[in-house]
Amino acid sequence: MPHVTEANLTDLAIERWKNIPDPRLRRIMTSLIKHLHGFVREVEITEAEWATAIDWLTRTGKMCTEKRQEFILASDVLGVSMLVDSINHRLATGATPTTVTGPFHVHDSPELEQGANMADGAPGIPCFVSGFVRGLDGKPIKGAVLDVWQTDGDGLYEAQRDTDGPWLRAIYRSGADGAYVIRTVAPVGYTIPMDGTIGELMQRTKISHMRPAHIHFLVEAPGYHRIITHIFQAGDQYIDTDVVFGVKEPLIVNFEKKPSGRMPSGETSKAPFYDVKYDFTLQPGA
Ligand SMILES: [Fe+2]
Repeated sequence: MPHVTEANLTDLAIERWKNIPDPRLRRIMTSLIKHLHGFVREVEITEAEWATAIDWLTRTGKMCTEKRQEFILASDVLGVSMLVDSINHRLATGATPTTVTGPFHVHDSPELEQGANMADGAPGIPCFVSGFVRGLDGKPIKGAVLDVWQTDGDGLYEAQRDTDGPWLRAIYRSGADGAYVIRTVAPVGYTIPMDGTIGELMQRTKISHMRPAHIHFLVEAPGYHRIITHIFQAGDQYIDTDVVFGVKEPLIVNFEKKPSGRMPSGETSKAPFYDVKYDFTLQPGA
């Protein structure tokens, strides 16, 4: 075996890791070494910088608990989470695209009737989201499950509220014609947690730490590809700078502000409310 030099070190490391029996693990590890070495060579990392990186990673790991995952946040702000999502959900043009799940989804939300209010007692401007769930062929999908979660009008999720819940989350089902009606309050844009190592990085780099207002959806129906996605409020000040890169053009929706009058639930509102129309298109598949 040749002696190590700066020039041959990458080849030696790849050669050493080339004998992993599992072919997929072999591919992942040798590619990781190739790109990690490439990165270190390109920027010619100093010893002080490498020590800083190790310290930052160590502190990031120590921040992680059952309720908080700082490494996922790191993956999110670097655009890696959305890249992994995109690679794993290459849907046909015309299907509603996917986005990251994010840290605030809660399983087993209560199931509500069409038009029922999932924001009872919550601060915020009343908001109706309604539309249809259809297949790529345009046929309505009956009984599709829409698992919905979002912030209240103060920009806080259930996990950030001192509540036993449920708070701003519910499960709805589409009717025989594929239609659904959700009553809620308008979400608002919010900051990612800034009290950890990712917040430190965002402050140091002066990169925006804000997310535009959005509502999360998990939509599934037998025989169709399950999607996890958001809809975003058009015109939001952070729409072009979402810190986690979640905004895809077909997911930007007009939140029409109505002064008052007949709401999609059939009741009459004296206060202004938002009327949001959005149709989900699911691709056939598992
Ligand atoms: Fe969110």
